Amino acid sequence: MSVPYYVTTPIYYVNAEPHIGHTYTTVVLDTVARYHRLAGEDTFFLTGTDEHGDKIAEIAAERGVSPQEIADEYSAAFSSTWKELGFSFDRFIRTTDPDHKSVVQAILQKVYDAGEIYFQEYEGLYCVGCERFLTDRDLEDGLCRDHERAPEKRNESNYFLRITAHFDWLADHIQQHPDFIRPERYKNEALSMLREESGLGDLCISRPKERLEWGIELPFDSNYVCYVWFDALINYLTGIGYPDGPKFEHYWGSAEHFVAKDILKPHAIFWPIMLKTMGLPVYRHLNAHGYWTVNGRKISKSLGNMVSPIDMKERYGFDAFRYFLLREMVFGLDSDFSEAALIRRINADLANNLGNLVSRTLNMTARFADGAVPKAGEPGDLEREIQAAAPETAARVDEFVRRYEFHRALEAIFEFLDRVNRYLETRAPWKAAKDPANADRVATTLYTSCESLRVIALLLASFVPDTAQEILARLGIADALKTARLPDDAGRWGVLEPGTATTKGAALFPRIEVPDEAD
Ligand code: MSP
Repeated sequence: MSVPYYVTTPIYYVNAEPHIGHTYTTVVLDTVARYHRLAGEDTFFLTGTDEHGDKIAEIAAERGVSPQEIADEYSAAFSSTWKELGFSFDRFIRTTDPDHKSVVQAILQKVYDAGEIYFQEYEGLYCVGCERFLTDRDLEDGLCRDHERAPEKRNESNYFLRITAHFDWLADHIQQHPDFIRPERYKNEALSMLREESGLGDLCISRPKERLEWGIELPFDSNYVCYVWFDALINYLTGIGYPDGPKFEHYWGSAEHFVAKDILKPHAIFWPIMLKTMGLPVYRHLNAHGYWTVNGRKISKSLGNMVSPIDMKERYGFDAFRYFLLREMVFGLDSDFSEAALIRRINADLANNLGNLVSRTLNMTARFADGAVPKAGEPGDLEREIQAAAPETAARVDEFVRRYEFHRALEAIFEFLDRVNRYLETRAPWKAAKDPANADRVATTLYTSCESLRVIALLLASFVPDTAQEILARLGIADALKTARLPDDAGRWGVLEPGTATTKGAALFPRIEVPDEAD
């Protein structure tokens, strides 16, 4: 089997409809999964929902329905939205799936038998939003920093996983593998969590049933259910058939998790230690990105600024929205979303640059070459420059996608696109075609533009899949993505066969008129 590539999104809580934040992470995953598949890697893309815990039990109680009903409703909202948006995931996992429950119980028993879990009475401040006991550092003016709500004082006997005993080992591992957690700022944040001053203690992994029943029962004590984070993280193993499925063995060594900075601690600290206590190798990389705000404000239900991806799809087309998300955010840093900024990007990059190149090239092919890819004559300097830029661009895109620098990858594709637009301006085939003596030069120019469009479409295919497919279909090579290998096929020149029938089609991205573009 070919090189494995296993990528995961966080599994989303079933307490909210999917919004721009969840959509961003899933767009990133869809993009890398599509890219690595096109690169011939054996890719597995996992996403899903996290359904147990206080938070869900609380909502169910408020609404007077069972937690299972809430979980079913919101999980279906995520899975149907993800399908409607065309995400190419290989499994949508739910933590209420039967296989997940048995995997969690088997792991709990294994770790318990290994002596990594102990029982103790505990008193502390508990935040329902975080689903955990807080430390002093989590508090600001007595409120949970993340949820701006007062924690509850709780006194309980519970089971704890000995995580502190593994801090030195984990700190060493992080230092010896500098890109284990990336970008670097999050590696540093993780290291500082492991320092003694951070006050991070052992991890409470149980909840007494008298307080919370909605969870997976501990196999060694039926009075308790499992803490939701311990259960949730294990989805990354269940998803590929742990413990003895063939997929598990194939994929686990290549595991890459993607999360936003909000859930760095469970992924950077708890999860590698959990894996260690189970006797499994740790994941290959944790990739953390920043946070989206909307019009400069934190996304929140009460502000009603959730930005539904389905609305965006209906209004602008989903490719335009994904393009914006990937082009605008520097992976790792925060970014702001506004419709005005989205419209500016659509107009400048997609309608003007890309859309124009597609329509000019195909209209002229229809007019001056009877709607078929013409046969190129001898290339001149300008053609040779474009031919050389194609493999360079493909190599840069490959490098950027593999480093998760999506904005740079798109920038590189659009630099190439600009170059082709400039080339067309210089060759001006619409003028040259007036004189039949220029027929050969016009054919060469149109071949160069059509072939450049093929290169651009292949490189864009992971970012804006429907648009790329449409361009390829108009070029008469609708099946190109079925066999293409990136980066080589995008960098190879002369693949389009002369004589291939092309179609003009409508504008790919009509320009969006806004009354006042200043805001
Ligand atoms: N259920 C846990 C994750 C368990 S993973 C084993 C959880 N769920 S969540 O529904 O709150 O999703 C958090 C994730 O959603 C973030 O890590 C990020 O991937 C995405 N985002 C949610 N809001 C976001 C922004 N405002 N900006 C960017 N991404 C954010 O935490």
